[in-house]
Amino acid sequence: MLRHKNIRIFLVIAVLQFSFLFGKCDLPCRARDVGIAGRSAVCVCDATYCDTVTRNAPAPGTYVTYTSSRAGKRFEKSGGVIETNSHNKKDAKQQMNGKDDVSDNIQPKIFNDASYRLFSNVQYQTIEGFGGSVTDAAGVNWRKLSFNTQTHFVNSYFSKEGLEYNLIRVPIGGADFSTHPYTYNEYPWNDAALSNFSLTVEDYFYKLPLIKRAMAVATSEIKITASTWSPPVWMKTNNAITGFAQLRPQYYQSYADYHIRFMEEYEKSDVHIWALTTTNEPVNGIIPFVDFNSLGWFPWDLGHWVADNLGPTLRNSRFNKTLIFAVDDQRYLIDVYLQGMIRAAPKSLDYIDGIAIHYYGNFIPASILSSIQERYPGKLLLSTEACEGPMPWDVMRVKIGSWERAARYTRHILDDLNNFVIGWIDWNLCLDDKGGPNWAHNYVDAPILVYGDKDEFIKQPMYYAMGHFSKFMPRGSKRIEVLRRSLGHVPNLAVLTPEGNIVVLLHNSNTREMNVRLSTSLTDHIDLTLDPESITTVEINPQSN
Ligand SMILES: *[C@@H]1O[C@H](CO)[C@@H](O)[C@H](O)[C@H]1NC(C)=O
Ligand SMILES: *[C@@H]1O[C@H](CO)[C@@H](O)[C@H](O)[C@H]1NC(C)=O
Repeated sequence: MLRHKNIRIFLVIAVLQFSFLFGKCDLPCRARDVGIAGRSAVCVCDATYCDTVTRNAPAPGTYVTYTSSRAGKRFEKSGGVIETNSHNKKDAKQQMNGKDDVSDNIQPKIFNDASYRLFSNVQYQTIEGFGGSVTDAAGVNWRKLSFNTQTHFVNSYFSKEGLEYNLIRVPIGGADFSTHPYTYNEYPWNDAALSNFSLTVEDYFYKLPLIKRAMAVATSEIKITASTWSPPVWMKTNNAITGFAQLRPQYYQSYADYHIRFMEEYEKSDVHIWALTTTNEPVNGIIPFVDFNSLGWFPWDLGHWVADNLGPTLRNSRFNKTLIFAVDDQRYLIDVYLQGMIRAAPKSLDYIDGIAIHYYGNFIPASILSSIQERYPGKLLLSTEACEGPMPWDVMRVKIGSWERAARYTRHILDDLNNFVIGWIDWNLCLDDKGGPNWAHNYVDAPILVYGDKDEFIKQPMYYAMGHFSKFMPRGSKRIEVLRRSLGHVPNLAVLTPEGNIVVLLHNSNTREMNVRLSTSLTDHIDLTLDPESITTVEINPQSN
């Protein structure tokens, strides 16, 4: 009796606490129907308005949920109290009914029910974070906005009222998402000492200002990964920005120095580089399907360059803490590259801190990443590039309001993180409504599209998909074990945050509701009903008060 009373008082307090918390309302999505059948809404931001999302820390014994759906929910909040089946209660019921209580049965009857046990003491990789890329194209679009709209953009991605991104990738020089192809130190030719290295207008007007504004509002340190697409063409065997080309052997050291010089220049603006990749998509200059900035690397050459030039140069420099991520290409190329590099130059493995992975080969199952982790223990797996719409068979480059693209992001991020990936970096933070600018006409989609002439930008469903991870899985969270105990299933990911809360992302891609039970212990659980075609993040505070 006393126990019952305690529970009831606790419930009342918890509910009060919720209504108090939800009193501090976020600014809701200003939804725009894009007017195309089958598309989801986009959220419109301008100089005077932009939707926000704040995280409500759940009180001990409670949970908070955030839901986005095809039907139009965007981080819609709800919550409740962790339920406890006391054994006494169950025994009493069993005595009364003379049989097992059906509602306490752990095996649901049908496929609409899914049940999971969360084991926060069984831990896997530590999460580094989530983010997007500050390309020239992103900077050019952002710069078209008025100061207030720029602020809404930066806050939307990086601040406490936004997605709290803490990773950025930045191209070293130009990429295809630039208005023209360029590199640093283009002249004089054959300048092995890089005597004329200097940043460009793109750095000073677009990339550095956007990075600095992001750093100013970020809730944790922004860790920046930098990648070269193409070195100055005089270092390359074909003297051109694209096509079949490798690095001329006499410039191996110059190309390593090129990276050091870039970091020195960025440091002058107080922008510190956390990691380098060993060149963007090295296969593009070997099998030149693509006609944009590239440098081809055969695995054995890359091994020698890392072991003899980049590795020692970096470790003997004042940037000796900078991480090196190798490969920076599709998942099916990782093992080919690593094996080739190590066979040619075993020391290259010692210099590599991790492996960078791109998104466009994801027709190969993500389980390959777990086997890579097993074969190269201690190496960090980082997803460094992803976007929707780049494939030859993608009829639409930009598919405004597409829920399918948000669902695909969600599915692949879940797959990656459930296979030991520590962080996930999206491609362009924003593009225009054509998916550019891109000097090579390689237009793609982005989570935010900018309309410079109207001084507004729109947040697509992909933006919210990213946020369901980045906002609630802070750096230092550890992935934990999820044990399925039902026939029904909802793809999911569970982490334990540094604060000791359990965060679970649930992706219901069905067109029907799903009932999900999450058990945090033998006796404690929460029951959720997931909307059709929805993404739900739930943060559970399992501590009793
Ligand atoms: C140095 O680079 C600039 C472009 O950044 C170029 O205009 C100039 O001609 C170069 N200097 C020499 C000596 O090539
Ligand atoms: C790394 O560089 C810093 C700063 O130059 C230096 O103090 C430190 O000794 C270096 N560490 C190693 C391991 O070389």
